[in-house]
Amino acid sequence: MDVDRARLNMPIGEAMFTQRSIRRFRPDPIPIEDIWLILEAGSTAPSGGKRQPARFLVLTDRGVIRQFGALYREAWWAKRRDEGRNWTRREDIPPEERISRSAAQLADEMKDAPCAVLALSVAKGQAASVVPAVQNLMLAARALGIGSVPTTLHPQVMEQVYALLGIPAEVELHLCIPLGYPRGRFGPTQRRPTAETTFLNHWGGTVPWAPPASD
Ligand SMILES: Cc1cc2nc3c(=O)[nH]c(=O)nc-3n(C[C@H](O)[C@H](O)[C@H](O)COP(=O)(O)O)c2cc1C
Repeated sequence: MDVDRARLNMPIGEAMFTQRSIRRFRPDPIPIEDIWLILEAGSTAPSGGKRQPARFLVLTDRGVIRQFGALYREAWWAKRRDEGRNWTRREDIPPEERISRSAAQLADEMKDAPCAVLALSVAKGQAASVVPAVQNLMLAARALGIGSVPTTLHPQVMEQVYALLGIPAEVELHLCIPLGYPRGRFGPTQRRPTAETTFLNHWGGTVPWAPPASD
């Protein structure tokens, strides 16, 4: 069986400029051919010295995802504690904290995600060779109409996550990417203007597309 790479035919600009975090998923399972294609796209990403340290652990088993989801939820609230937030329940999060409210909902619903991909590396300190693969796989998912969001865990749950999934101690877990068909819509993506985030030739150098400074 060959993977059908030609199915990834959404224009790259459309995929990039409409990719936003999808944290609410329909329960529909993702066909295994699509998961395969997404992982093929992830695996084409560059890595330092072409060492290809990235590994992907794909969770589709409902029982495993349910157990992982409980640990993900615990991790999410542990991160809020570290941030000094005094929230203890989703209802405590103020309405203006939209990302946190949405992320808290994902923390509750991770257990129901149709699929989750854990992005790992076989050696420590290799995040820079894993992140490009994660972006590739999320763009491929977008092109297939599948939503995603990169998420992190917390040291508090790592031992249990490693034990649950049989991950060897020398392997580093970088990101967890839930995948599913969106409840809600994709993009347009909203970001700071590149005229603010990009410099030309030296730090602070204005790019030609920056609007003229007003006096
Ligand atoms: C390194 C990294 C870690 C992130 N961790 C989380 C997370 O733990 N939970 C979550 O819901 N979103 C997480 N996100 C998603 C960000 O919140 C999201 O990319 C950002 O808010 C922009 O959202 P948008 O693409 O919908 O505009 C993470 C993103 C990155 C790049």
